[in-house]
Amino acid sequence: MRILVTGGAGYVGSHAVRHLRHAGHQVWIYDNLSCGHAAAALDTPLILGELSDTQKLVDLLRSQQVEAVMHFAAFALVGESVTNPSKYYENNVVGSLRLLQAMHGADVRKIVFSSTTATYGEPAKSPIAETTLQQPINPYGFSKLMVEQILDDFAAAYGFGFAALRYFNASGAAADGLIGEDHRPESHLIPIVLQVALGQRDRVTIFGDDYPTPDGTCIRDYIHVDDLAEAHLRALDRLQPGKGLKLNLGSGTGYSVQQVIDVCRQVTGHPIPAMMGARRAGDPPALVADSSLAQRTLDWQCRYSDLPTIVASAWNWHQAHPRGYA
Ligand code: UFG
Repeated sequence: MRILVTGGAGYVGSHAVRHLRHAGHQVWIYDNLSCGHAAAALDTPLILGELSDTQKLVDLLRSQQVEAVMHFAAFALVGESVTNPSKYYENNVVGSLRLLQAMHGADVRKIVFSSTTATYGEPAKSPIAETTLQQPINPYGFSKLMVEQILDDFAAAYGFGFAALRYFNASGAAADGLIGEDHRPESHLIPIVLQVALGQRDRVTIFGDDYPTPDGTCIRDYIHVDDLAEAHLRALDRLQPGKGLKLNLGSGTGYSVQQVIDVCRQVTGHPIPAMMGARRAGDPPALVADSSLAQRTLDWQCRYSDLPTIVASAWNWHQAHPRGYA
């Protein structure tokens, strides 16, 4: 297929682009490089542009005869969304709407959308299935939930076929070490811990050890970015006019912050000093996926999402690129 990937120069998007190309699809990346990196596009055509530029998108979709869109372009920092909600609603909601309008205008009605576990808020029950009530607790989660709603309505009214894939904690890097995770500033746990092992930070601060979990630190479900990418590829094949798939993508196994640091110590052989700090606002105690619906629907399984494999791939990338894409 001929596919436009928005945010294809970003972390998850760049890994998905490689999977699409390996599967024989023709791909164009559309990115404004506000978070992405031109180097992450490798040899895939990169078009610089804004989601708000509807005419540019319509022209591109028409001229390249694009058949489907994968939409990764979004801001994704929970804390920032609380202090600057305007930025999140503008880019994630209005930007997505403009993209969908451009698709409608160009008669492209297939889309795979990056959603998030943050749409569930703080669910009482874990693991989290898709039937769990979606009650976000921050503007980031709301922005993604609003786009899920818009997609439902575009499917009903205009025959769009979509998949909204709700990621748990994307992590790791491509096995060949060519692309990986590089956020500026970095706020994600695994890259921060590995920066300590690289000598770029003195220590990692654990955000709270008084949560109702076995060791008191927060539990998350880390899924390898290549497993996420593979799920996108399979979702693309299952899009049906007028219908929407909403699927959780996680490994189904939870690790505490303390356990993640321990695995990083084993993989790197570095002592990685850690200190206890205060809780970070908005962190739910435990988020673990029930991904059985995605497994059945997509005929998909995680292959790389055991934590030592995730950390080893990330460590490989960080050692080879100590300054990221810089
Ligand atoms: N953490 C620390 N110290 C740090 C950084 C993180 O203790 O220096 C902890 C956090 O408090 C959290 C865990 O490590 O308990 C994971 O934190 P991340 O920032 O790596 O990831 P989050 O779970 O907060 O957020 C990620 C994505 C979001 C997405 C969310 C869904 O970044 O975009 O998963 O669960 F919404």
